Amino acid sequence: MSKQMSHLDNIPSTPGKFKMDKSPYIHNRLRWHSSLAKLTFWSFMFLGLVLIFFFRSPSSNPLPQDPSRRSLRTYNWGGPAWEKRVRSSARIRSRNGISVLVTGAAGFVGTHVSAALKRRGDGVLGLDNFNDYYDPSLKRARQALLERSGVFIVEGDINDSALLRKLFEVVAFTHVMHLAAQAGVRYAMENPGSYVHSNIAGFVNLLEVCKSANPQPAIVWASSSSVYGLNTKVPFSERDRTDQPASLYAATKKAGEEIAHTYNHIYGLSLTGLRFFTVYGPWGRPDMAYFFFTRDILKGKSISIFEAANHGTVARDFTYIDDIVKGCLAALDTAEKSTGSGGKKKGPAQLRVFNLGNTSPVPVSDLVSILERLLKVNAKRNIMKLPRNGDVQFTHANISLAQRELGYKPSTDLQTGLKKFVRWYLSYYSGGKKAAG
Ligand SMILES: NC(=O)c1ccc[n+]([C@@H]2O[C@H](COP(=O)([O-])OP(=O)(O)OC[C@H]3O[C@@H](n4cnc5c(N)ncnc54)[C@H](O)[C@@H]3O)[C@@H](O)[C@H]2O)c1
Ligand SMILES: *[C@@H]1O[C@H](CO)[C@@H](O)[C@H](O)[C@H]1NC(C)=O
Ligand SMILES: *[C@@H]1O[C@H](CO)[C@@H](O)[C@H](O)[C@H]1NC(C)=O
Repeated sequence: MSKQMSHLDNIPSTPGKFKMDKSPYIHNRLRWHSSLAKLTFWSFMFLGLVLIFFFRSPSSNPLPQDPSRRSLRTYNWGGPAWEKRVRSSARIRSRNGISVLVTGAAGFVGTHVSAALKRRGDGVLGLDNFNDYYDPSLKRARQALLERSGVFIVEGDINDSALLRKLFEVVAFTHVMHLAAQAGVRYAMENPGSYVHSNIAGFVNLLEVCKSANPQPAIVWASSSSVYGLNTKVPFSERDRTDQPASLYAATKKAGEEIAHTYNHIYGLSLTGLRFFTVYGPWGRPDMAYFFFTRDILKGKSISIFEAANHGTVARDFTYIDDIVKGCLAALDTAEKSTGSGGKKKGPAQLRVFNLGNTSPVPVSDLVSILERLLKVNAKRNIMKLPRNGDVQFTHANISLAQRELGYKPSTDLQTGLKKFVRWYLSYYSGGKKAAG
């Protein structure tokens, strides 16, 4: 494992976080005495449960990696004031506007897509569990940014069916932009359960709620270029095989595509999967190479650059965030309505998959050279062999299908995009903010 990734080793499994309920109602003084009695009662119940657990538990290990522990986490949602915020955020403010539930809205792509939708007058409601896979303060900063433009992010989990049903009860969303996921390729060896929780169980839960909603929304969701796995034929085209994933992350995205097919087939949900190719830009993800290279180069720390066997080049089809946002909006705008109602299919519905890449792979060593020029610091390069634990040697998108159907045409080269990223990075992490990681 590279040095750059080793900081991830110390991140606890995201499902393990426990948050206290901050309900204001428990402070009602009139209820104090009955509360005390209840407290005693529940304390005994709790003790009893703990004892039962210990007697039934097959091992004495307190399950530090168990993804189901996420269910311990409680979120505050519900109530008239909360519903009012939800409604107001999702209100359409332009003619022919749509109302979109954006999952993963505090994430990198989710923030940019939410802001873009809001700017053109669509109704937008965010949903995010603010897990600590990477520094949650960055997610909070993105949330503050969205709040200023009128987007409310509901704090909750996509695997919480009661919450999702409630959201559809309050708002008749026309579209869902599903971006919430456990991302990252190598973290899967650390915490495989988080991928199953968010990318499989969470996605199925979302589709279950969508198929029962009246009207059913159209769904656009993020798959990944990683589904091309170990393929060697380039550029990657939507018709190529996707049955040799190189990571659990890739396997869960591939599973998502098959699950999407099922819900389209059985329930008439309109579903569009977007295979993103290495997205980068301002407000990006600290676990991605361009981001932690920037941080480490500025710190004077050496960076690990992977090369394949026989000094083979490792390259990525880096895609700038603004191009991805345009692709997402075009996918929403061209999505046909779902055809089901009352949880039943009424006719065939749209099912699509698109590559969203840049079509010009860049060797990772060139990425570093660009960063050196922009940061005016020489990197300490540590060339290492590409480990066989998730990363593939190269990615390269054939985007002709997205070009034809979505009018997708990426327009930002890596040099230009990184310049914008570096400008953001320097301003975000100056002015008293602590360095990432
Ligand atoms: N950035 C890329 O290069 C890239 C490439 C291919 C695919 N993707 C996919 O695009 C989507 C967005 O990626 P991103 O780069 O913005 O990642 P991100 O991690 O910044 O955003 C994902 C957000 O989803 C939230 N989330 C995760 N699990 C959740 C759950 N169970 N319930 C509620 N919220 C949850 C996280 O807190 C996070 O804010 C993801 O589906 C990712 O797999 C991204
Ligand atoms: C998702 O939610 C379901 C239903 O509440 C629950 O049974 C399941 O354990 C959860 N799955 C994961 C992986 O967290
Ligand atoms: C790209 O994909 C299209 C089909 O979407 C195909 O017709 C074309 O030949 C592909 N181009 C290359 C260079 O492989």
